[in-house]
Amino acid sequence: MVKIAVFVSGGGTNLQALIDACQNNEINGEIVLVVSNRKKAYGLERARLANIKAECIKDDDLLIKRLEEEKVDLIVLAGYLAIVSEKLINKYENKIMNIHPSLIPSFCGPGFYGLHVHEHAFNRGVKVAGATVHFVSAVVDGGPIILQRAIDVSKAQSPEEMQEMVLVNIEHKILKEAVKLYCDGKIKVENERVIIE
Ligand code: GRF
Repeated sequence: MVKIAVFVSGGGTNLQALIDACQNNEINGEIVLVVSNRKKAYGLERARLANIKAECIKDDDLLIKRLEEEKVDLIVLAGYLAIVSEKLINKYENKIMNIHPSLIPSFCGPGFYGLHVHEHAFNRGVKVAGATVHFVSAVVDGGPIILQRAIDVSKAQSPEEMQEMVLVNIEHKILKEAVKLYCDGKIKVENERVIIE
């Protein structure tokens, strides 16, 4: 059984989708630790309600020590807004996944996070939007892409509405699928490209 740590900074609806999928045995993995860089992140409360260890950790060495103590195999960034250290990225190479609320390479990189992504996309007048699950590298939103999916957002009346459409219809589904594929050993990385077997 793959041991999973999930990092959150906000409400944690992506985390909840993973918690439910593990509890329903849709994912052959176990969330053993939830970490936040914010004490008040509701995602920590979701973890406690699911009897999962929930910790606010801001120190990188302590973070790495806790991941080792819990024997974590896979780290999932689910709305985590702190920058992950190069030390952690090197230690967990191609074992850290992130969900980004756009179709990378559009609307990504430094400054493109949360609602800001959808504000740029909405103001640009996009008709299609989506999300991307990728492995984390030293380049923000730059790691090998695992899964992407698009949705028609031509009817969205605001960035907030577009954010909700992408979060509920795309993010919760592709993050769950990507973690499931990883836990089933179906993901390989060759020459910076993800191959799904
Ligand atoms: C998601 O849209 C995620 O892609 C972005 O932040 C949002 C977090 O949502 N990085 P939640 O906390 O999982 O509800």
